[in-house]
Amino acid sequence: MIHVASLLHDDVLDDADTRRGIGSLNFMMGNKLAVLAGDFLLSRACVALASLKNTEVVSLLATVVEHLVTGETMQMTTTSEQRCSMEYYMQKTYYKTASLISNSCKAIALLAGQTAEVSMMAFEYGKNLGLAYQLIDDVLDFTGTSTSLGKGSLSDIRHGIITAPILYALEEFPELRVVVDQGFDNPANVNRALEYLRKSHGIQRTRDLARKHANLASVAIDSLPQNDEEDVQRSRRALAELTQRVITRTK
Ligand code: FPP
Ligand code: MG
Repeated sequence: MIHVASLLHDDVLDDADTRRGIGSLNFMMGNKLAVLAGDFLLSRACVALASLKNTEVVSLLATVVEHLVTGETMQMTTTSEQRCSMEYYMQKTYYKTASLISNSCKAIALLAGQTAEVSMMAFEYGKNLGLAYQLIDDVLDFTGTSTSLGKGSLSDIRHGIITAPILYALEEFPELRVVVDQGFDNPANVNRALEYLRKSHGIQRTRDLARKHANLASVAIDSLPQNDEEDVQRSRRALAELTQRVITRTK
C-alpha cells in the first residue's frame, strides 16, 4: 500500500499519462483525486501497521515513508554538482527505492522473531535488491519502449533527471557536462546526450553495477543460518531467483 501510494504521488509529480500500460489515475481523474487516493492508501497502511503492535516495525516503516519523500525531494532539488555526482545518485536511489525493500525485509524478519543478526541480513538483501532494481529501471528508461514498459520511455532525461547511464557517460566524455548543465527543455539537448550515451559504456557499466548489487543480495541469502526444511529451502531459492529476475527483466 505504501508503494502504490508513492507511485500515485509520483505520477502526479512526473505528470505521467500511463502506468503499467493503462491511463494513470492522475491522467484519468485529475491530480487532486490521485493525491487523495495516495493519502488514503497511506492512512490505511498506517492503520494496518499500528494493528501489529510492534513499535520497532512501526518505526522502520515510518522511516521508509520519510525516505521516500527525502528521495523524491533530493531528485527534484539538485545543484549542478549534485546532479552530476554518482554518490548523490546512489544515496537518492537508496531513499527512493531501496529503503522500502530493505526495511520491509528487516521488519518481516523481526516479526518472525529472528535475531538482530538475521534481520540485518534481510536488510542487506532488500537494500541490494532495491538498488539493482532501480539501476535496471534507469537503464530501461533509455533502452525500453513505451509499449514494453507500460509507461513513458526517456522520461527521466526529459525531466532533467540524471541517472547512472548518463553519469558514467559523463566520466568518459566530460564535455557532456555542458549539455547537462544547459538542461533538457530543448529536445535537441536530449538527442545530444543520447548520442554521447550511445558512444559510451554507460548502459553496460550501469548493468554491471546492478549485477554487483544483485550478487550481494544473493550472498545475503546464502549467509542466513543453515536450515534444511523444505519450505525454507524453497523460499530461499525464490529470493535468490528474484535477484536474477531484477537484472534480466525487460519491462
Ligand atoms: C518512482 O520513481 C517513485 C518512487 C520510487 C517513490 C516516489 C515517492 C514519493 C512521490 C513521495 C511520496 C510518498 C508516499 C509514501 C505517499 P520513478 O519516477 O523513477 O519510477 P517510474 O518510472 O515507475 O515512475
Ligand atoms: Mg515516475
